Amino acid sequence: MSDEVRTLVIDGRDVAGASGQSILSVAEESGVFIPALCHLAGLSEVGSCRLCMVEVEGTARLVASCVTAVEEGMKVTTTSERLLAYRRRAIELLFMERNHVCSVCVADNHCELQELAKTLGVTHFELPPLHPACDVDATHERFVLDHNRCILCARCVRVCDEIEGAHTWDIRGRGTGARLISDLGKPWGESTTCTSCGKCVQVCPTGALYEKGRSVAEGKRHRPYVPFLVATNALGTGRQL
Ligand code: SF4
Ligand code: FES
Repeated sequence: MSDEVRTLVIDGRDVAGASGQSILSVAEESGVFIPALCHLAGLSEVGSCRLCMVEVEGTARLVASCVTAVEEGMKVTTTSERLLAYRRRAIELLFMERNHVCSVCVADNHCELQELAKTLGVTHFELPPLHPACDVDATHERFVLDHNRCILCARCVRVCDEIEGAHTWDIRGRGTGARLISDLGKPWGESTTCTSCGKCVQVCPTGALYEKGRSVAEGKRHRPYVPFLVATNALGTGRQL
């Protein structure tokens, strides 16, 4: 990334970023909140959750701020009725696609999906739930993958590949049939690539990945540590969490 400075306006405020930097990253640095689920500082961007959409003056369509680079003179709006309606619908679709029952979920009260739903004022759902039949993979000696709670954000895929270097996880299939898989479809407990480091569990925004034998209250994650892991990885240190 070049260090050339780009000046732009976000929500009426003059801000600056580096060329190639995303709108979301500049907004974060400037203290502007943009909802996001697949984004996690320290990991590459995939632009899959569509919660970070913003309005850019002169562009009719909404753009995903995590995968759109800042440009000189850009005028960005992060909050509007249109954006709120879009984000609420995006949250609703995530809830409807799987079986998210917060009251019996291991991530209750420390789930980013639940938190964003509250922040965005999602009080009810209008769409019919799909109620898909989803497996729970409890074959790993320390961790569990519950597909009922997975929102396919691919944070686990990226942290495992980009930071741990194991590449245990992938997403197979498309649309509502897409599923997170370990070792190209083996049960997690039979994986020969998994190092049991637990990084995927720490970055999962929901209760889809969790540690066995921990109470709901003990299940709080340490997500902001990814940039630290990037730094320690570069130094060749740190592995087991
Ligand atoms: Fe995202 Fe968690 Fe599903 Fe991985 S298991 S894709 S981190 S929701
Ligand atoms: Fe941008 Fe998910 S954070 S699409």
